[in-house]
Amino acid sequence: MVKITFIEFDKTEHTIDADEGMSLMEVALQNGVPGIDADCGGACACATCHVYVDKKWFAKLPKTESSEIDMLDMAFEPNKFSRLACQITVTDKLDGLVVKMPSKQT
Ligand code: FES
Repeated sequence: MVKITFIEFDKTEHTIDADEGMSLMEVALQNGVPGIDADCGGACACATCHVYVDKKWFAKLPKTESSEIDMLDMAFEPNKFSRLACQITVTDKLDGLVVKMPSKQT
């Protein structure tokens, strides 16, 4: 199990024991974490799974693909730590990962 912490815009924290191989988006949905709508079901086509990755973790994630970069351009208030939760696969290297949701995703 890999511990992932999702922090809502109002600072409510949800620490989940996630299975490796799932996406962060799937982990959030399965555990009822508010703020991850995932309207496109993980097809990298909606940006409703936008998260801000804690800066100490950002460099440890796999590189962002061009399709994700394009979709992040359409996300609400993206910043240099933005990622799409559907494009991040849980691995043991991500144990302790912390992500925050934008204000629009509540
Ligand atoms: S679920 Fe639609 S872009 Fe991630």
